Amino acid sequence: MKLGFIGTGALTSAIVTGLKSAADNSVSVLLSPRNQEIAASLALLYPDVRVAADNQAVLDSCDTIMLAVRPQIARDVLAGLQFRRDHYVVSLIATLSREEIAALIAPVEQVTKALPMPMIAHRQGATIICPPDRRMAALFGRLGKVIEVEDPSAFDALSVVTATFASYFKYLDTIHGWLKEHGVADARAHDYIITVYKALANAPETTPDAGFMDLAQDYATRGGINEQVLRELTTGNVFDAFAESLDGVHRRISAGAAPRTSPRS
Ligand SMILES: NC(=O)c1ccc[n+]([C@@H]2O[C@H](COP(=O)([O-])OP(=O)(O)OC[C@H]3O[C@@H](n4cnc5c(N)ncnc54)[C@H](OP(=O)(O)O)[C@@H]3O)[C@@H](O)[C@H]2O)c1
Repeated sequence: MKLGFIGTGALTSAIVTGLKSAADNSVSVLLSPRNQEIAASLALLYPDVRVAADNQAVLDSCDTIMLAVRPQIARDVLAGLQFRRDHYVVSLIATLSREEIAALIAPVEQVTKALPMPMIAHRQGATIICPPDRRMAALFGRLGKVIEVEDPSAFDALSVVTATFASYFKYLDTIHGWLKEHGVADARAHDYIITVYKALANAPETTPDAGFMDLAQDYATRGGINEQVLRELTTGNVFDAFAESLDGVHRRISAGAAPRTSPRS
């Protein structure tokens, strides 16, 4: 496979790093020249990763193309490029629908959407693929779990999960900050938090029949300190606010991903 990337930023860097650290790294990679620094450093690190002169040169030399520019510039960037019918295109641009991408890159016939995450660099996490696509499932399957979905609305809903990562770290940081204020050394607090949260992250796999609230209840001993925090956060509407935030992200993703209708229709 000759794999080309249009847009060489954080996500492209993570995918290339993951691919090149896998045992089977037979995929040759051609990067578009922006971001220059990231493209140059990947080409320096891996012998079969090269940097093209421009975006069109990526298309002209590759059979499989990943679109990895930001949504705000995607229309302008893609409009200036000549795609071939036989290009196999994977859009990583979560907020543009497959139909919209297909219209921008005509006459391409094979368009798939994929949502990998930066942890793919370490071959961890999961990539959502829509619609199911054997070739892409095999490629991303080397870099972590793959979840293939038929329904674009399921793809959009699953995408919302990825909006919660920063808040997860803020949650841990709140605990960390609190511990430091209470005299616990920074490194010790950090080490304790990551060790116990790693163990908690394993709990759903070690008890696969338990739902998340079953696990919550296991920890929320009646009258105990876990029950207290859960009750106080619940009555403080923290979880309702969180769910509302998920709704807001979903509206944003669905609006962006909906096929555009002409002003007259
Ligand atoms: N990062 C994530 O966690 C993540 C996860 C899922 C999906 N995505 C999606 O993946 C896409 C890329 O995200 P990202 O985080 O990798 O963004 P990013 O780090 O900003 O990378 C985008 C790259 O596009 C380059 N670029 C700008 N103009 C260009 C042009 N005309 N032609 C070619 N490349 C151009 C930028 O170069 P300059 O730096 O020189 O401007 C930048 O390196 C986005 O659509 C995003 O929504 C990202």
